[in-house]
Amino acid sequence: MLAGCGGSQNTLNPHSHQSADIANLFWVMMAVSFGGLALITGLLVFAWVRRGRRGLGGDAEDPHPGEKLSWFVVVGMGVVFPLMVIVALFIVGDWAIVKVTQAPAASSTDLTVEAIGHQWYWEFRYPGTKAVTADEMHIPVGTRINLVAKTADVIHSFWVPELNRKIDTIPGQENRILLYANKVGVYRGQCAEFCGLQHAHMGMLVFVQPKAQFQTWLKKQAAPAAKPASPAARRGERAFLGGSGSCSSCHAIRGTPARGFVGPDLTHLASRTTLAGLTIPNTRGYLARWITDSQHFKPGNDMPNFHLTDGELQSLVKYLEGLK
Ligand code: CUA
Repeated sequence: MLAGCGGSQNTLNPHSHQSADIANLFWVMMAVSFGGLALITGLLVFAWVRRGRRGLGGDAEDPHPGEKLSWFVVVGMGVVFPLMVIVALFIVGDWAIVKVTQAPAASSTDLTVEAIGHQWYWEFRYPGTKAVTADEMHIPVGTRINLVAKTADVIHSFWVPELNRKIDTIPGQENRILLYANKVGVYRGQCAEFCGLQHAHMGMLVFVQPKAQFQTWLKKQAAPAAKPASPAARRGERAFLGGSGSCSSCHAIRGTPARGFVGPDLTHLASRTTLAGLTIPNTRGYLARWITDSQHFKPGNDMPNFHLTDGELQSLVKYLEGLK
């Protein structure tokens, strides 16, 4: 129980109106359940203490003592009362919560972000701009975001527990949800629908920024990739683009001929803090190890090992590090 209450994916640490309502519903359910448990336990203890006595009324003159009271206990407490409690909880749970967590009218939102599930990473697009990123999305604080959940393959589920409920990504369908954060910060999310071997390694981060800072970020993300700045980085770019069976068959880098769409868009890879669905940090060492042996970190992912020479690997890493 205690392990479930901490960490960065805590539904009981809400940072939006929607998640606050979900957390409150949890506490109401919890309180009512414990109330019910206390009542039932109390009645059981009461019955046990008075075991062996004839009837609840205890009147020796009456051949059926306490029958009325027994009826009240069985029908009233056993049928009517639970029914009332369950109906009340249903109304609170469904009617009250669905209203606040359902998809908003698109016209009531200020920004649309597409979240596209892939086996196994998240792609984020900002319609109206060229910005495409992976696993780490940015949104402005205090802004109603129209989040459109889609999938490139199987069913996934977009879930940032501190911001709102889950929303499934269904093939051939668009699902929407309101994404809103009332406080600047970083919120962790997770794919919440089993989608294959690396389902657990399909995390995401939501960076909630002040509005001006977000606009700066979005402008940068929409821009084409930085040109390689050194001879080593230029060699790296050539290795990236070179021939068939190269990185560019699966990855896109806007501003270059690389237009693959199997793996994440790498145009601004160096601006991200993590790699591979939050599996490893985006540092020089991990990036190099990911390129040479991604199967070690995430068995079953689509990235092959190209058996690069040491020199090729070093220049490739140099190039990718420059994609700020
Ligand atoms: Cu994607 Cu689980």
